[in-house]
Amino acid sequence: MAKAAKSSFLCQECGAVHPRWSGKCDSCGAWNSIVEELSEAGPPKGLGSVKGASGKGRVLPFTDLQAKSKHYKRLPTGMGELDRVTGGGVVPGAAILIGGDPGIGKSTLLLQTVCAMGLSGLDCAYISGEEAEDQIRMRAERLNLSHAPVRLASATSVRDIVSSMDALSTDTGAVMVIDSIQTMYVDTVDSAPGTVTQVRTATQELIRAAKKSGVTLLIVGHVTKEGTIAGPRVLEHMVDTVLYFEGDRGHQFRILRAVKNRYGPADEIGVFEMADIGLREVVNPSALFLPEREGIVPGSAILAGMEGTRPVLVEVQALVAPTAYATPRRSVVGWDSNRLAMILAVLEARCGVALSSYDVYLNMAGGLRVGEPAADLAVAASLISAISNEALPRHTVVFGEIGLSGEIRPVPQTDVRLKESAKLGFEAAFLPAQKADKKKQADPLDIKQFKHVQDLVALFPTA
Ligand code: TYD
Ligand code: MG
Repeated sequence: MAKAAKSSFLCQECGAVHPRWSGKCDSCGAWNSIVEELSEAGPPKGLGSVKGASGKGRVLPFTDLQAKSKHYKRLPTGMGELDRVTGGGVVPGAAILIGGDPGIGKSTLLLQTVCAMGLSGLDCAYISGEEAEDQIRMRAERLNLSHAPVRLASATSVRDIVSSMDALSTDTGAVMVIDSIQTMYVDTVDSAPGTVTQVRTATQELIRAAKKSGVTLLIVGHVTKEGTIAGPRVLEHMVDTVLYFEGDRGHQFRILRAVKNRYGPADEIGVFEMADIGLREVVNPSALFLPEREGIVPGSAILAGMEGTRPVLVEVQALVAPTAYATPRRSVVGWDSNRLAMILAVLEARCGVALSSYDVYLNMAGGLRVGEPAADLAVAASLISAISNEALPRHTVVFGEIGLSGEIRPVPQTDVRLKESAKLGFEAAFLPAQKADKKKQADPLDIKQFKHVQDLVALFPTA
């Protein structure tokens, strides 16, 4: 019996199905994200009986598997920063999703990666749905990598791509780049490329083929203006690793951040610099986000932060100005705006620093996105310094988490932060009060410990 095509309304953000079109998705709250797509009528069928099973689903003792997995070594990517983010290279058969704004450098990064992997003897293919083969080759020439043994193809049909995956030799290790998943289509699905159904089905088919053959997949995904990978969140569940490539287009620095990683750490970042011949790795990024002059303007504080296992020092800048509106403006770049609201509330309720009649602008300088709570104290210090119009002491770093009662809590890796700060020429540090037994023996810095935000406010008599 021929199946009738039935239309359904899918949210392009979260994949929820709706009976009719509406302006807002009830499931994820996104506006204007619901699109009509055709799907086959009828409920999905169950397995029926298990007759005809291939026996592949049998369960094996763990110890048998261990013997087999000896040959399952990680493949180094030839890019130290990418290895760091993935946890020491990519795993054969893994699917890695790389998201980022258009023009941030995803294609450049992946082309450089496959060329480096090709040169190290792996069988690599770069499939682009956006550029023609000649254009990819021209880009490789510009990057001085046109001699690398990499297979190039301009294709958008998943059927073609899956069949060419079989041609890759997985004995030495094989890698395939799909640039981008939004341009790929499966010919049995009626919806247009880029819709939830297509993106989901195409990813599923590619991952299935890759897991079967042991080819590592690097999939590019575009990001919507809200900052999530366009189309369904479900894509993030399907892949093994999700990396975001981020950075400010106005700055040359790019940060590759792991947000999900089945085979490695999920808090590491890789730092790159966009130069005229592609991306260059920045091996020691700790001083990258520091200004030339530091600590001398009101509203500026230096955070001794951590990104994964590496210390990174960042300038936190705050500006407060009397508001002209009934609701004051809060504008944040590089930090969580909810967290800023919390710090403002703590300052007001626990320390009497009223900022409700001021607009507040907060900026993590240099284009870095800071996620750790240790930034709380640096943010509070920059705000207090801005409102009192008094600069913090020179050459001072700040870190610590702030609780709702205004207490300052210790954060991990104090030693690493202090050591790096001393190395970069800082002389003093504001940090949470440590337990007595944790007190330092010979500190390289002049340490000032804080128990409560009030102690910090007390340093600024005019706040
Ligand atoms: P691209 O990799 O095409 O971005 P995406 O695939 O994420 O959309 O990067 C394009 C940008 O990178 C473009 O604006 C120019 C810049 N660029 C350089 O500055 N130097 C280079 O060597 C290359 C190849 C690109
Ligand atoms: Mg691209």
